[in-house]
Amino acid sequence: MTSITSTTKLCALIGDPVEHSLSPVMHNAAFQSLGLNYVYLCLRVRSAELKRAVDGVESLGILGFNVTIPHKVSVMTYLDEIDPIAKDIGAVNTVVNRDERLVGYNTDSLGGLRALSGAGVTLTGKKVVLLGAGGAARALSFSIAPLAGLLVILNRTEAKAVALASNLRRRFDKKIRGGPLTQDALFTEMADADVLINSTSVGMHPKREECVVDEDLLHSRMTVFDAVYNPLETRLLREAKSVGAKTVDGLSMLVHQGALAFKIWTGVTPPIDVMTRAVEAAVEG
Ligand SMILES: NC(=O)c1ccc[n+]([C@@H]2O[C@H](COP(=O)([O-])OP(=O)(O)OC[C@H]3O[C@@H](n4cnc5c(N)ncnc54)[C@H](OP(=O)(O)O)[C@@H]3O)[C@@H](O)[C@H]2O)c1
Repeated sequence: MTSITSTTKLCALIGDPVEHSLSPVMHNAAFQSLGLNYVYLCLRVRSAELKRAVDGVESLGILGFNVTIPHKVSVMTYLDEIDPIAKDIGAVNTVVNRDERLVGYNTDSLGGLRALSGAGVTLTGKKVVLLGAGGAARALSFSIAPLAGLLVILNRTEAKAVALASNLRRRFDKKIRGGPLTQDALFTEMADADVLINSTSVGMHPKREECVVDEDLLHSRMTVFDAVYNPLETRLLREAKSVGAKTVDGLSMLVHQGALAFKIWTGVTPPIDVMTRAVEAAVEG
């Protein structure tokens, strides 16, 4: 095990709350397995303190940080540079301190896509139904839109789905539409869907028995991906498995977005298997 010394470099998570984050176990396991002299800590930062905290990153020489609720959008104001995809998505979850310039990225976007491709799911030409239009949905939609044959975004607040779809159409010139997250819309859209993605928070702990889709709309020809990772097997995934659908859990997205951040900070590709085992043990423990 690498010990903390006078030259240990610091990475962190900035958010409020941060106490339940799985990122420290995931990143510290990867640092240790590669023998890198880095440590990852959670730093609770209240909204009113965000600017001072970000200024402190530069002055303290912190190597990089992740950003979580509620700072993913507001942090953008305090950065020197933002990756074009993160700018389009409108949220940053990873920042690197590169030559005293803070550069922001969104690794949720590609992380979600890697979770799907890692499970052998290709999106090219497929019909993808994406539920939600919040931060996770926006991030996922920007990596899915260029590939999918048709992307349908359904959200409880319909106007957000419609606005996201029209924003994506301007950027990608693809078949993309938005609508309300109702049982009627699900009934119409799911019958010929190849991939269903839940990026709403429905089904998340403690409301584990909630499910955004009725079981009788799920079918064995589709892949069902749930961005929710607590619990690991949501009710949606359990029901999808029972009808014979392929399933992908949110933990793989969490690991892949973390692996992309790790590479941005260190320049080194981390071991996905080590990170996965570390978060699985933390969730199950
Ligand atoms: N696996 C990963 O790496 C990863 C990464 C990011 C997020 N996530 C997970 O993804 C989920 C969403 O996160 P987020 O950051 O996108 O949150 P967010 O920005 O707050 O968005 C929440 C989304 O859920 C919808 N929603 C909430 N309650 C609902 C309900 N009762 N019925 C229908 N829709 C409902 C909201 O619809 P309205 O617009 O109508 O409010 C919105 O679309 C969370 O569970 C989070 O843990 C996972």
